[in-house]
Amino acid sequence: MIHPAHSFKQTWELILIIVTTYASIEVPLRLVMGYPATGWILILDIIVITVFIADIVINFRTSIVVEGRLISDPRVIARKYLSSWFIVDFLAAVPFDLILIHSLGEPEANLARLISPTLLRALRMLRLIRLLRLVRLAQLLHRLGHRDLLNPAIMRLLFFGFWVTLIGHWVGCGWVAMGGIPDAPDQITRYVRGIYWAFTTLTTVGYGDVVPNNNHQTVFAILTMIVGAGMYGYIIGNVAHLLANIDVARAHFRQKMETVNAFLRYRNLPSSLQERIRNYYNYLWESRLGYDEFSFLKDLPRSLQMEVALSVNQDILEKMPILRGAPASLVREIVLSLTPQVFTPGDMIFQYGDPGQEMYMISKGTVEVLDRDKNSIATLSDGQFFGEVALLHHAPRNASLRAMDYCDIYSLDRKTFEEILERYPDFASSIQAMAEQRRGGKQS
Ligand code: CMP
Repeated sequence: MIHPAHSFKQTWELILIIVTTYASIEVPLRLVMGYPATGWILILDIIVITVFIADIVINFRTSIVVEGRLISDPRVIARKYLSSWFIVDFLAAVPFDLILIHSLGEPEANLARLISPTLLRALRMLRLIRLLRLVRLAQLLHRLGHRDLLNPAIMRLLFFGFWVTLIGHWVGCGWVAMGGIPDAPDQITRYVRGIYWAFTTLTTVGYGDVVPNNNHQTVFAILTMIVGAGMYGYIIGNVAHLLANIDVARAHFRQKMETVNAFLRYRNLPSSLQERIRNYYNYLWESRLGYDEFSFLKDLPRSLQMEVALSVNQDILEKMPILRGAPASLVREIVLSLTPQVFTPGDMIFQYGDPGQEMYMISKGTVEVLDRDKNSIATLSDGQFFGEVALLHHAPRNASLRAMDYCDIYSLDRKTFEEILERYPDFASSIQAMAEQRRGGKQS
């Protein structure tokens, strides 16, 4: 079975992104340009189909994470896949158009003479089914965004540019398909004019030099304007929201970043380490406008501390199965003692054999449990805890823990942990039961 975080799977996802992007550009383009699938185009077509089919096989062979547990049982994986994405992947992988066209026994170029243009067009339209893969593309890009490749803000901007360009391309193709550019001297000019119309209409600039000539085109133009206005609204809305919240925090954060940058320059740290430090601050900025909750809390009187901590930590409390149904006094005690920590992808939280001084609860993100030889033995995510074994058994850490993406984690120090266990025997026994299983390596 392939581990979901294995480098092969990550490379495969990049290949899928490239292939799906190619398909989502080429499929509508060929529909409007009407060029036949021969030579290179046919080879690329076959590559796309092969990659999509291989992806189905790989999905059946990849372990999955369910409620933080790594599942490698092929039957469970198959059941889960068949009841979720399989149908989309399958429909997108089957080359319905090629099968039907080739079953007619004639090269595609001769078909125009054999069947009516409408039927031929319908046959070619079947390729649009391949665009179903776009749903998966969105998912893959989202995952790519969580990898530590670029500054997250730049990544978001790139994704936004990517989708806008793709939508512009489809709208342009749609416009050409509707006969919106009737008097172009050749196909390339027709396509370029189509794209030009798409972008002027989507951005609601509309110079009016390319205009709809019939009802279909007018309706298409109206729909495009609505999509354009929606996109515009989305951008303005986001920017306004950010600006409204950002100014005060931004000044504070900028000051902090200047100090950090000065320090990095002064110490001349390796550039990859500098990059990780900046990414950490960028994440702090994105997730909580750069505020350090811990020092903010410490400035407050104790009564307010409690209310703020309860409200800030509400999400983690709700997510933790182990705290469900726990007495309110226990929850309050834990909440007041939690220290928030942030880890960036690839950070080691602690190493096998380290002495244990605290246990951790995951509020957001995924961490990987690695054994002594750095093999992954489990994945833990939102609402789960780790690091309890060393505290309970006064032993060194029995595994290393590594952050797989940006993680918001709360730690609880040994002293509070021991006090709580002493006072709440029910809570102590559920933690002990889990620790026992993990110690024996049964629980993942
Ligand atoms: P500790 O020994 O303090 O540090 C490593 C932690 O990894 C350990 O506590 C557990 O919380 C966790 N851990 C160890 N083995 C497993 C496993 N098989 N499944 C899930 N978590 C584990």
